Amino acid sequence: MQGLQDAKKELLSKYFYDDIGSQLFEQICLLDEYYPTRTELGIMQEYIPEIVSLLGPGCMLIEYGSGSSTKIRMLLDALHNPAGYVAIDIAKEHLQRSAASLAAAYPGLAVFPVCADYTSDFTLPTSSGPVSKRVAYFPGSTIGNFDREPAIRFLQQIAKTCKGGGLLIGVDLKKDFNILHRAYNDTQGVTARFNLHLLERINQELEADFQLDQFGHYAFYNPGQSRIEMHLVSLKPQVVHIEESEFSFKLGESIWTESSYKYTPAEFAQLAVCAGFAIEHVWTDAQQLFSVQYLKVV
Ligand code: AVJ
Repeated sequence: MQGLQDAKKELLSKYFYDDIGSQLFEQICLLDEYYPTRTELGIMQEYIPEIVSLLGPGCMLIEYGSGSSTKIRMLLDALHNPAGYVAIDIAKEHLQRSAASLAAAYPGLAVFPVCADYTSDFTLPTSSGPVSKRVAYFPGSTIGNFDREPAIRFLQQIAKTCKGGGLLIGVDLKKDFNILHRAYNDTQGVTARFNLHLLERINQELEADFQLDQFGHYAFYNPGQSRIEMHLVSLKPQVVHIEESEFSFKLGESIWTESSYKYTPAEFAQLAVCAGFAIEHVWTDAQQLFSVQYLKVV
């Protein structure tokens, strides 16, 4: 809760993903307004033969933030003799359920669930069999949650882990602000519930008394910073207690809960090169809403 003490209140977006938060995120992925998920899946479907031939046979797949392990199935269906699949996620039960159902669907596959916060140190399991190369999978434009410097550091970390291999990554693209705005302000209010769930989680896991109806979901595109910003705005002057501490909110004061950066292909290439990758291929949809990219560790 460190970030609530600062002049600008802030909570890290990784805290969205407990089991309920992960389920709410999956509901977001099904919304008409939320174009990234279906667009990314469409790109994967269209170009899967090219993707598979770049990855090659016998690779070890390592997914960062595996969630329900849905997208990986498209790769697993097409890849030749993958050496295994490491699923890293922060939501434990969700991870275990997803890994179990994946293992059942792919009987010959070695599945390694790893419950960890992948932004901190953790150990990867090692495979006993032969591995041609390690390929990290980081779909959904989760890289968009990172500011520039942390994004480079995180990609560098992946490059180190996957030396001699590569990274298959989903990157959301810059586009009409209105399309972006709608994606984070859906009419059913699922994104608002996802955002507010963070306060519910603090109430449950720490001793806190946030009144959920006294905070509002506020998301907008900041074109100067090329990012969606998601906030929870205090709807009145109020004091909130978390364990022994008191936090006062002015009317309209916000807790910044997420950034979601959008890139042009050239901007992302620059970032990837800084982190030690070479862009091998960029696939996009016809409307250039989203990109799937294969980067090689140099
Ligand atoms: C999972 C981080 C890619 O930024 O679009 C969706 C999360 N937040 N709606 C995104 C999210 C609000 C999502 N990522």
